[in-house]
Amino acid sequence: MISEKPSNFIATLVTAISDCSLYTVSHPAVKELSQKVLNLSGKLFTDGAFSITLLGGNMLFNDSPVGEEGLHIDTLKKKMRKKGIEKIIITNGVTVDELLRLISSMAAIEETCVSSDHIRVGTVQVKLRASGDDAASLMEENVATVREVYQEFSRFKKLDMVSIENAVLGFIMALKREAKVLRIKSQVKSYSEYTYVHASNVSVLSVFQAEALGLKGEILYEIGIAGLLHDVGKMFVSKDILDKNTGLSHDEWEIMKRHPVYGATYLSTLQDAPKVAVLAAFEHHMKFDGSGYPDTRKRGKKQHLVSQILAVADFFDALRTERPYRKAVSMETIIKLMKDISGKDLNPLLVDNFVAALTALKRIESI
Ligand SMILES: [Fe+2]
Ligand SMILES: [Fe+2]
Repeated sequence: MISEKPSNFIATLVTAISDCSLYTVSHPAVKELSQKVLNLSGKLFTDGAFSITLLGGNMLFNDSPVGEEGLHIDTLKKKMRKKGIEKIIITNGVTVDELLRLISSMAAIEETCVSSDHIRVGTVQVKLRASGDDAASLMEENVATVREVYQEFSRFKKLDMVSIENAVLGFIMALKREAKVLRIKSQVKSYSEYTYVHASNVSVLSVFQAEALGLKGEILYEIGIAGLLHDVGKMFVSKDILDKNTGLSHDEWEIMKRHPVYGATYLSTLQDAPKVAVLAAFEHHMKFDGSGYPDTRKRGKKQHLVSQILAVADFFDALRTERPYRKAVSMETIIKLMKDISGKDLNPLLVDNFVAALTALKRIESI
């Protein structure tokens, strides 16, 4: 019979993980919490071990539902999903160092959680691991995942957040290996193809900018998700309007302009969508100077930094992509156009950051 509630253990573990992402693994608060995790785990062993499993959307403790759901359990579920972890088994004899290693690898977005003598980490097979070392094929696989998610969405209006999260993780990994993966695909034939290719491009380009700004960890990941979902509201606009390449009537255009509101409303109903993704879906057509749509000027609302990052990526990708009715615009022309609207439509600091990061690649012509 165990003498401690699994939910207390999970809450302490999650607090240790978030403190570790805020500070470092050697911070006294993290060490103290790890010791607490160790003490609590001592009270949970049955037959010398206990396990935490993620099954579908549920969390199991020793193969039974953990019971009290709550914020900490939700956070651990998300952490495990992001890491592709299906099961954690802790056995008697576990040390504070082993727990610290688990905690720090769960806190760092890029790190893989590995097993140790007394902690077994069972991972699901995440697609990105199957693709070898080639950044381009990793990218292709993840874009294919995004395509499936969007196809599924148009059929059932259901968004597979787990696949979205895995694809963003794959984009981040691919970007870290090779920045030229920024060049995903610049030619699309149909509108449905444009939907997922554009979403993937905006996601990668936004993460690229955010990294160049010095952002790290969780927020990078959330920006990637926001990029992938910024136009999800278009899935609620009739296909007849979307398929029209040019020449929307006034009324059709008014409907089209509702996609930020549709997207934000839909995403706000999803438990797993980051807040910043909801915000960015709403604000990505607002402009730096307060114009654009939805018109929130009366409320004095300013565009959030993440929405501004997405707006830069959105502008860039819309011009770079070749569509059946329009040729792709050259990199030099896009940069010139961006500079022209810098300070009006786009945040000038972000334009400078983006152009400098692209220039630093020294491969502008090959992107
Ligand atoms: Fe949009
Ligand atoms: Fe867009």
